[in-house]
Amino acid sequence: MSTPGISRRGAEIQESPIRKLAPLAAEAVRRGISIHHLNIGQPDIPTPVEFWTAVKSKMSNVLAYGPSNGIPELREAICSYYGKTDIDVDPSEVMITTGGSEAVIFAMMGTCDPGDEIICFEPFYTNYNGFATLADVRLVPVTSSVENGFHLPPFEEITSRITPRTKAILICNPNNPTGTILTDAEIAELADIASDSNIFLLADEVYRDFAFDGRQHSSVLEFPEISERVVVMDSISKRFSSCGARLGNLITRNRELMSVFMKFGQARLCPPTLSQYGAAEMYRNLDHDYYRSVVRMYQNRRDILMEELHGREGVFFLKPEGAFYATIRLPVTDTDDFAAWMLTDFSVDGWTTMVAPAAGFYATPGMGTDEIRIAYVLEEGKMRSALSILKAGLEEYVSTGRS
Ligand SMILES: Cc1ncc(COP(=O)(O)O)c(C=O)c1O
Repeated sequence: MSTPGISRRGAEIQESPIRKLAPLAAEAVRRGISIHHLNIGQPDIPTPVEFWTAVKSKMSNVLAYGPSNGIPELREAICSYYGKTDIDVDPSEVMITTGGSEAVIFAMMGTCDPGDEIICFEPFYTNYNGFATLADVRLVPVTSSVENGFHLPPFEEITSRITPRTKAILICNPNNPTGTILTDAEIAELADIASDSNIFLLADEVYRDFAFDGRQHSSVLEFPEISERVVVMDSISKRFSSCGARLGNLITRNRELMSVFMKFGQARLCPPTLSQYGAAEMYRNLDHDYYRSVVRMYQNRRDILMEELHGREGVFFLKPEGAFYATIRLPVTDTDDFAAWMLTDFSVDGWTTMVAPAAGFYATPGMGTDEIRIAYVLEEGKMRSALSILKAGLEEYVSTGRS
């Protein structure tokens, strides 16, 4: 007997390029190979003790639902966090979500009807593809280039993609997968485009604390002229190395949109209750020193990446400005094959290095096939070892003519 066909959405949704090499990695481990993971943005930094203490103190007989927009103490704590950088946010403008992922999905679904378009800059966080499929939204890519550190393409290139179906521009700042931080002038340019075309500006700012070399990250919330058309998507996954807490949030000053987010939130009942107590405690108690020490750690790792890879023959990227990623051009025509080969055919003293091929971070077919994304989430010794294995692998791969 035949079975019913699956949905178009189900057939179309992409496999995450970050995770698609996982079976080859599992097979390598079965063969006794250990793997340095530079392929996924899972920080190795311990989750602050404040999280665990608060979670333990809230354990009770019943793990109950909470409010759909999150517990008030967490929304207030997030406002205090913004207050420290002189950004005025009211708890009524904050909605807690199940991870930054849900925040992006809600932002897409709240601003777009099925078939509407969102302009985004490729390479972009690859799961935007999956979120767009879930929301039945079309991502319209504008390509940025490794040559200028993935800063914005010219104004006309952006405006030429606007159609009657365009509902929003989506940015990720600081950017995953490139580590680029937009300048105030670039954000102002996008704000002008959003105003002129009467569309939303959706800003994924989950890496907003990670700005290097004394840079200051500017939030779209600091541009009052577009306050009604701005949505910020945020997360504690990276800020507090709490990926498994599954907590993020939306911020918008547009009340109509917030009431839509609230209805989406009611449909899925509530974000994880226990994690919210832990998150509130971290927001309340971690001060400037915490953020500074984490930034210093990532900046050191970024510097190791520069020392080990920058300037090598055929390898090209500019110094990442923030987050903890770099998109790097290699002297290789198919980085899907190279990344797989590192897992199936190459090791040094029983170790290999896993990277993410960059093509999956582009929406335009054929783009990024000579690039990889590296997440520098390992401590110094492991970073150096992972990169030296990557360099040795690259040399062998190229010298054997596979590239
Ligand atoms: C740019 C960006 N946005 C959103 C997310 C999703 O974060 P969360 O773990 O909070 O769902 C990630 C996770 O890596 C990310 O890199």
